[in-house]
Amino acid sequence: MAKKTILDFQSMAEKGEKIVYLTAYDYLTAKMQEKAGVEMILVGDSLGMVSLGYDKTFPVTMDDMIRHCQAVRRGAPNTFIVGDMPYMSYQVSDEQAVQNAGRFIKEADMDCIKLEGAGPSIASRVKAINDAGILCMGHIGLTPQFAGQLGGYKAQGRTAQAALKLIDQAKLLEQAGACSILVEGVPAAVGKVITERANIPILGIGAGSYTHGQLLIYADMVGFY
Ligand code: KIV
Repeated sequence: MAKKTILDFQSMAEKGEKIVYLTAYDYLTAKMQEKAGVEMILVGDSLGMVSLGYDKTFPVTMDDMIRHCQAVRRGAPNTFIVGDMPYMSYQVSDEQAVQNAGRFIKEADMDCIKLEGAGPSIASRVKAINDAGILCMGHIGLTPQFAGQLGGYKAQGRTAQAALKLIDQAKLLEQAGACSILVEGVPAAVGKVITERANIPILGIGAGSYTHGQLLIYADMVGFY
């Protein structure tokens, strides 16, 4: 099967065809996922918990991510793969974000990067990465790298005011050049409105069934974790 591009995902979203998106962290899992027809793989910083045995994602480094992205690419040479920017690899400045996003492309042959967060400074990172010619997926809602500010790993957008804020955040990222947005841990109704208002593919994890596709942590899906 030919490797899908961002244009294929855009067209799937427009036609209402669901996008199949799973995490992988190693060669063998990636190989099985490609064989099974998974359309998009995320090498998430959930690597920290799922494969490295930490209890959170904060300790994961750029070098950890690059090493695992390389393994996943070797296992799935024909799959669209997203590399997840770990904690403190983009928060400092636009320059830092572009340099680290570039490592995912240059050293690990990723198709796209993902970063967490919302608001003007994250929109600025998304714009800078996009201007450097790199596809950038946003990630809003329950964003583990911001767990301290969120008061823990809690569902987001559960009041009308919080829901409206998320809807605005999604628009801001889209306007900044995000090629897609992952929405995590929000009520289905909020996932629905974000999806209906978007002109880019919206992927969900714990965001209801109305998004253009679902992401699952593969270890949760198979009941390992
Ligand atoms: O790192 C990851 O796998 C993620 C998902 C939890 C959304 O970002």
